[in-house]
Amino acid sequence: MKKEPVIIRSPGAMGRWSAGLKGTLGFIPTLGSLHQGHVSLIERACRENDVVAVSVFVNPLQFTPEGFRKYPRNLAADAKIAASAGASVIFAPSAAQMYPAGFQSQIVLPRLFAALKRQNLEWHYRGVLQVVMKLLQIVLPDRVYFGLKDPHQLALIERMAADFNLPIEIRPCPTVRERDGLSRSSRNALLTPEERTAAPVIYRSLCGAKKALREGKSPALAMRILKKEVMAEPLARLEYAEIVDPSTFLPVRQGVSEVLVYAAVWIGEKRLADNIRFRLK
Ligand code: PAF
Repeated sequence: MKKEPVIIRSPGAMGRWSAGLKGTLGFIPTLGSLHQGHVSLIERACRENDVVAVSVFVNPLQFTPEGFRKYPRNLAADAKIAASAGASVIFAPSAAQMYPAGFQSQIVLPRLFAALKRQNLEWHYRGVLQVVMKLLQIVLPDRVYFGLKDPHQLALIERMAADFNLPIEIRPCPTVRERDGLSRSSRNALLTPEERTAAPVIYRSLCGAKKALREGKSPALAMRILKKEVMAEPLARLEYAEIVDPSTFLPVRQGVSEVLVYAAVWIGEKRLADNIRFRLK
């Protein structure tokens, strides 16, 4: 039987625990609401490290006030899931501990951000980089694990880690999906039964674009196919989609071998995002 994980609340105590550790430390930063996607990250980290820590922190800097209020929270359930997947420690600080009075330093988004066409979410990604930098400095892991579900977030974190010479290996991990293709996400718990039935349209639309590109159709036509698929679902509204070269986030050019297709779709009042990355040849 797996042991209950230790829950550490303060950044100071977390740093001391880490400093006293023998062996390698794998780390999975999360917003909580752990699901199968997180479990697969924890299990992989356990295979590749001596000890694994998970953080559960709903970071106010990356949410709107309403999104922050509504985000599901259940630390006891998260601790249980993390422990049975093999984590030894949960770091669960409060917002006041992470951002005490007087806190003011900022991480500036790298130039790469301009290529990501996420300008309306600049505040969100700034908040993500801010908290990831803080978590990495507190936990001091050897390896950190991120899902490929948010490729923009991953690219920015990889850039930041390289730019600041962070002595940490970043390990991207494949998206975990439900049987109908919907990617696992804490947000799925917020969907009504009707919305849950509608939500796999996102993955279907990505696969439609992939099939078209692999058949040699142009990115413009593949995009029309993606849009048509989303429009056929009455509960879905496409916010944004792109077909890009995953190494630059710029539109795919003739002869490119790898492609990233990304879509953000509103299902009722909930915004879900997903992507697939594949080789063309
Ligand atoms: O992807 C997430 O879950 C969050 O953005 C992260 C990396 C834990 C930062 O709060």
